[in-house]
Amino acid sequence: MSEDAARRAADRIRAGRDLPYSVGLVLGSGLGSLADAVTDAVRIPFADLEGFPSSGVSSHRGEVVAGRLEGVPVVVYSGRAHYYERGDAAAMRVPIATLKALGCDTLILTNAAGSLRGETGPGDIMLITDHINFAGANPLIGEPTDARFVGLTGAYDASLRAALLGAAEREGIRLATGVYMWFSGPSFETPAEIRAARTLGADAVGMSTVPEVILGRFYRLRVAAVSTITNFAAGMTGAELSHEETKRLAPIGATKLERILRRFLGDRGLR
Ligand code: HPA
Repeated sequence: MSEDAARRAADRIRAGRDLPYSVGLVLGSGLGSLADAVTDAVRIPFADLEGFPSSGVSSHRGEVVAGRLEGVPVVVYSGRAHYYERGDAAAMRVPIATLKALGCDTLILTNAAGSLRGETGPGDIMLITDHINFAGANPLIGEPTDARFVGLTGAYDASLRAALLGAAEREGIRLATGVYMWFSGPSFETPAEIRAARTLGADAVGMSTVPEVILGRFYRLRVAAVSTITNFAAGMTGAELSHEETKRLAPIGATKLERILRRFLGDRGLR
């Protein structure tokens, strides 16, 4: 059972300390540097925790870093598992359940994404307001209880969104808002798929996050998600897309995202 594994993982992460964890943070491609800012850190590789994924993506570390950020007790996951690695949409179930077991009530997800909007480009940040599950997979398939019928109308918590927008404003950083469309990957989209995505209402596309949003709501966490834009989506420029480009450009937006998240934590008195 995921919940049993989560309880055992939570005991390891607590490491005999009684920190009142409130926020879980998942750091996507090229965004791992925020984990280095955690103080009083307990660091545990995913590989040492039962039920945690062993992520094979070259820009991900796969490590739990629990401690404080801006004084707020946080559990940071530096790296995540993606659906495209093994075809398992529930690969992040135990890590998300572990946040709940540790007492967190808030989950903040980050990712790298391609933009469909000309005015939001590489190095910009987009707050996700809603998603389109275009991969068609779902981490709750196989969950036997009625709890699987999770409502997603307010999946991206309105008060967290307002707080993140406020933090960005106080930092003087433009924070775009928009709809994130989940493609399974690992191949990038075609230009025709991007035109279709735009018609369907997407502002950005990516290969992650949506399963974790669903799991976060399943565990009744308040959820927010932010994308760093690493590229214009397929067909918007002449260029071919590549993971190298994602890795190269993610740190540019990551610096802004870090400032927003630290301001958000510091200002909220989430302790
Ligand atoms: N598509 C899908 N995933 C991505 C992209 C993209 O253009 N950029 C970064 N992650």
